[in-house]
Amino acid sequence: MLKLDYSHATSFFKDHELAHLEPQLNLARTQLLEKNGPGNDFLGWVNLPAEYDQEEFDRIISAAEYIKTNADVLVVIGIGGSYLGARAVIEALKPYFNATAARPAVEVIFAGYNLSGSYLADLMDYLQDKRVSLNVISKSGTTTEPAIAFRVLKAYMENRYGKAEARQRIFATTDRSRGALKGLADKEGYETFVVPDDVGGRFSVLTAVGLLPIAAAGFDITRLMEGAEEARQTYLLSEHQSFNDAETYAAIRTCLLRKGYDTEIVVNYEPQLHYFTEWWKQLYGESEGKDHRGLLPAGVDFTSDLHSMGQFIQDGRRGLLETVLHVSKPRRELTVPAVKDNADGLNFLAGMDMLDVNDKAVEGTVLAHADGGVPNLLLTVDGIDEANLGRMIYFFEYACALSGYMNAVNPFDQPGVEAYKKNMFALLGKPGYEEQRARLEQQLKA
Ligand code: PA5
Repeated sequence: MLKLDYSHATSFFKDHELAHLEPQLNLARTQLLEKNGPGNDFLGWVNLPAEYDQEEFDRIISAAEYIKTNADVLVVIGIGGSYLGARAVIEALKPYFNATAARPAVEVIFAGYNLSGSYLADLMDYLQDKRVSLNVISKSGTTTEPAIAFRVLKAYMENRYGKAEARQRIFATTDRSRGALKGLADKEGYETFVVPDDVGGRFSVLTAVGLLPIAAAGFDITRLMEGAEEARQTYLLSEHQSFNDAETYAAIRTCLLRKGYDTEIVVNYEPQLHYFTEWWKQLYGESEGKDHRGLLPAGVDFTSDLHSMGQFIQDGRRGLLETVLHVSKPRRELTVPAVKDNADGLNFLAGMDMLDVNDKAVEGTVLAHADGGVPNLLLTVDGIDEANLGRMIYFFEYACALSGYMNAVNPFDQPGVEAYKKNMFALLGKPGYEEQRARLEQQLKA
């Protein structure tokens, strides 16, 4: 379950400032429900937890079972929304070290999210004595990073297993009918899964994009979907007079943005949530950062980053707000031991669970940062499991869409991502980019 506490933010805005946003928030909610706002052809995620394709869902489970029996490693190739959701959920659920009894069935390794040749070369060395499957994911089917990684790893698989067996070990997740990857997958005879037309990359974790890797890693995708559905019922569909927690979160961050708080930092105190923050950063960065608007999404892992970013957050340039992901019941308990000579002076903690030590760090930091001028919102989750991750995913997706609409942008496009791609293609000599290449090379020489 999730609970939002904004008591450490209320001194940073007035009640009427939040109330002023009520009509805008209601309009945003109506636009989502009636599908008549900007980007309304990308609202498939809204009802996805209830309206997903059951036949494909069953195929995902079968494919995951097949991968578990045939592979030690599943290499998932994708970038941005075609990778971060799966990574967020898997990293949140898997044990910190693989050697524990709860080790996931298959090790999932991600590739195609950078252009490092060293990464791919090292990866192929690592795979050498392991049984391997591949899941290549690209909605457009034309993104350069995963396309290059797939070219390299497809050749690796065919050399190692031969074409026929490689075909059984490669799964493609892409558009239903368009794009180079779809054409290639059909030609090679790979099993394919669909990224629905009306679900954008960063909202696609609850489609095959996220579900196949998560299921192959040994986690319960039915519970993930159930958690998301519960959140959809609670936040989007329940009749309510006042804002619910997801709406309050969207309203407060919007209110603070309008008061000059232009950076939101998501904070975790459990390292397992590091990639959840990365997923959140992409969701909010690509959805809100356009038309020269939006909160800059940032993330820190506490308490580690209290020893680096903590100084800045406490005392540097103001304009920050923090949203703390607080886990009230961690996966495991561990008590601080008593030591006879008390040489480190820590016997006052003896017998205390690390959970309580961590909680005091949360409380102390929230108070200190709020005193330092940083509004703090706390989203408490009573444990990290599939259902709660489903709830968190939907909570943040819904709040993101509301925030985008309140801030007068289309939260579902990403025109800014194209600029670097065009320059890169031109500089690499892609046919059709000759004029741009000449201009850029002039600029680089100047
Ligand atoms: O959210 C998005 O739309 C993007 O981050 C995409 O997911 C990312 O660019 C990858 O695109 P594709 O799946 O088409 O390869």
